[in-house]
Amino acid sequence: MSNYELINFKTLGDERGSLIAIEEGYNAPFDIKRVYYIFDTKEGVIRGYHAHINLKQIAIVVKGSCTFILDNGKQREEITLNSPNKGLLIEGLIWREMYDFSDDCVLVVIANELYDESDYIRDYQSFISKVNNAKN
Ligand code: TYD
Repeated sequence: MSNYELINFKTLGDERGSLIAIEEGYNAPFDIKRVYYIFDTKEGVIRGYHAHINLKQIAIVVKGSCTFILDNGKQREEITLNSPNKGLLIEGLIWREMYDFSDDCVLVVIANELYDESDYIRDYQSFISKVNNAKN
């Protein structure tokens, strides 16, 4: 499926341990404008349920694990994130849901735009219409 990819971060480290830096053009293929993180997610919770019109994001589980459902309107795929060495780059029209958060999960998201509710598509049927219009 297009519109997402796993990035294997270049890891800096020495005998003291590991360090990963993310800058625009280094481990992130876009200008970074916002960082947020999700933690203390309660058992059984499913987050997301939306797509974005223009936003690009990299999701990194720096601690614990959680699973992303990625839906491009034709196919649904699941990807479990459980390593601080990997980033899930999501761009374009992708409906996402996140679930199965471990108690200790810390999900960091790096984005190329500031928070803008008008960039969200929160209705699944509207998402499907957008996908179909984009093809025509
Ligand atoms: P939302 O993006 O729906 O969360 P998720 O996709 O993880 O389920 O955001 C939840 C709430 O937080 C919503 O009211 C918008 C607000 N919010 C901000 O104010 N700034 C942000 O950067 C983000 C991501 C959300």
